[in-house]
Amino acid sequence: MRNVLKWIGITVGGLVIGLFLVAAGLMISTDLRFNRVYTLQAEAVAKPGDTVSLDVGRRWAEMHCQGCHGPDLGGGPLFEDEALGVVDAPNLTTGRGGLGARYQAADWVRAIRHGVRLDGTPTFIMPSNEFYYLSDTDLGSLIAYLQTVPAVDRETRTRSLTPLAKLLYAVGAFENLLYAETIAHDERPAAPPAGVTVNYGEYLAHAHGCAGCHGETLAGHQPAEPGAPFAPNLTPGGELGTWSEAEFFAAVRTGVTPAGRRLSEAMPSQYLAQLTDDELKVIWLYLQSLPARAEAP
Ligand code: HEC
Ligand code: HEC
Repeated sequence: MRNVLKWIGITVGGLVIGLFLVAAGLMISTDLRFNRVYTLQAEAVAKPGDTVSLDVGRRWAEMHCQGCHGPDLGGGPLFEDEALGVVDAPNLTTGRGGLGARYQAADWVRAIRHGVRLDGTPTFIMPSNEFYYLSDTDLGSLIAYLQTVPAVDRETRTRSLTPLAKLLYAVGAFENLLYAETIAHDERPAAPPAGVTVNYGEYLAHAHGCAGCHGETLAGHQPAEPGAPFAPNLTPGGELGTWSEAEFFAAVRTGVTPAGRRLSEAMPSQYLAQLTDDELKVIWLYLQSLPARAEAP
C-alpha cells in the first residue's frame, strides 16, 4: 500500500513539474520573440517640405496614428488588464517623454514600415503590416508631418505583460501582433503611381488597412479575439455586389449600409471618413474588379 501511494506521489509530482517546465518554456519562447533584435537597413525616404505634402502626411497621421497614439500624438494607455498586463502607445512628439527628439528619418521608416523600434526589438500591436505598403511619397509626407507636430510633455509606461499573457501568446490565443515577424522586410512591392487605376486602388486598400481587417483576398475575415465582429466580404460576391458607388461611399464614411444596418466601431469609419472622393473612387474601382468570391469562413 505504501508503495502504491509512493508511486502515485511520484507520478503526480512528476506531472506538476512537467507542466511547470512546459509553461516556463512557453513563457521564455514569448520573451525571446519580444526581445529579438532585427538589424535592418531602412530605405532612404525623401522628406518633402511643401504644404501640400504636409497636408497629405497630416491626413495619414489622423487616419492611422491618432487612434492609438492620441489626438495630440503624445501617447497614453492603450491596453490595461490586471490578468494580462499594460501596453501604452508611446509619445511620438519631441516633448518630455517623447521619442520624436531622438528619432532620425531612418528610425521613423524602420518603426512605421518594418515594425522595429529604436533598440531593434519589434513593436507590439502597431499594424506595420499595413503601413509596410505605404509608398515612399506617402511615408515621406507622414514623417515630415510627424516632425512638425507640437511637443507634448507626457511620460508613458514601458510595456509589461504578465506570465499568463506570455503563455497565452505562445499558444496562439491572440492574433500575432508582432508584425515584424510576418513582414517580408526585403521584398517590399513597389507602390504604383497615383492615378485612377485598379493597381492604385489595390495600393490604397492595403495601405489604409482594408485588407488587414477584411482579409488578404478581401473576401472577409474573422479576428481571433473573442467577440470581435466578422469583417465582411468586400468582393462583388458579398453584399457590395449589389451596391452603387454612392452607397459604398456612404457606408465607409457614415458606417451605415444601404440596408440601413449601422456598423459597429470595429469598422473605423470615424477615421476613414477622411478619405477623399478620389481615393474612395479608386478603392471602389479595385473592389469591383475583384473576382466575386464566396465569403471566407
Ligand atoms: C493599433 C495601435 C497603433 C497604431 C494604429 C499605431 N501605433 Fe505606433 N505603436 C503602438 C504601440 C502599442 C507601440 C509600442 C509597442 C511596444 O510597446 O512594443 C507603438 C510604437 C510606435 C513607435 C516605436 C517606438 C519605439 O519604441 O521606438 C513609433 C515610431 C510609432 N509607434 C509610430 C506610429 C505611427 C507614425 C503610426 C501611424 C502611421 C502608428 N504608430 C500607429 C500602437 C499603434
Ligand atoms: C480595423 C478593421 C477594419 C478596417 C481597417 C476596415 N474595416 Fe471595413 N469593416 C470592419 C468590420 C469589423 C466590419 C463589420 C462591422 C459590423 O458588422 O458591425 C466592416 C464593415 C465594412 C463594410 C460593410 C460591409 C457589409 O457587407 O455590410 C464596408 C463596405 C467596409 N467595411 C469597407 C471597408 C473599406 C473600404 C476599408 C478600407 C478603406 C475598410 N473597410 C477598413 C473592419 C475594418
